[in-house]
Amino acid sequence: MKIRCASLDDLESIHAIEQRSFKHPWTKNQLAYEIENDPVSQVYILVDDGIVLGYIFIHDTTQEVQILNIAVDQDYRKSGYGKHLMNYVLKNISKNANIFLEVRASNFNAIQLYIAAGFKEIGRRQAYYHGGEDAIVMKLKRNI
Ligand SMILES: CC(C)(COP(=O)(O)OP(=O)(O)OC[C@H]1O[C@@H](n2cnc3c(N)ncnc32)[C@H](O)[C@@H]1OP(=O)(O)O)[C@@H](O)C(=O)NCCC(=O)NCCS
Repeated sequence: MKIRCASLDDLESIHAIEQRSFKHPWTKNQLAYEIENDPVSQVYILVDDGIVLGYIFIHDTTQEVQILNIAVDQDYRKSGYGKHLMNYVLKNISKNANIFLEVRASNFNAIQLYIAAGFKEIGRRQAYYHGGEDAIVMKLKRNI
């Protein structure tokens, strides 16, 4: 099992997991743009025996990092893979960066993962998502 940068060759696998994981998934074009074209974007995938199990999308502008998207395919959840992807990213970005994310207020599993990684709620965006759901804004509190 390894984590590596995604390329467009991984697009179909990522898109399939994205569709299985979200009610409002990113489109293939959005995913492709992040993988190939966005200069501040980094996309990492967790691969086992050639099979993509999960991914994480971030924007890194050195001073500030946004965790944009993380998913683990349904059959592989609750096995530590989400934590593994998150830890990989947190280990490899600048120690001075402020790290933020937004998450649907109802996404209990993701919120638990983020709290376990050291994120704390710092605010809410009212009716931020499709359907009027609030976003919880979280920031990583580092132990240094
Ligand atoms: C959120 C998600 C990525 C977590 O991935 P995962 O591989 O299942 O998570 P892990 O097994 O690494 O769990 C990490 C921690 O998250 C928490 N957690 C994850 N799933 C949980 C669940 N079903 N119930 C309770 N806590 C959960 C736990 O704190 C866990 O730590 P622990 O096992 O030491 O208790 C996965 O559920 C997923 O892909 N969800 C759909 C997509 C999504 O909502 N993404 C986030 C929004 S961008």
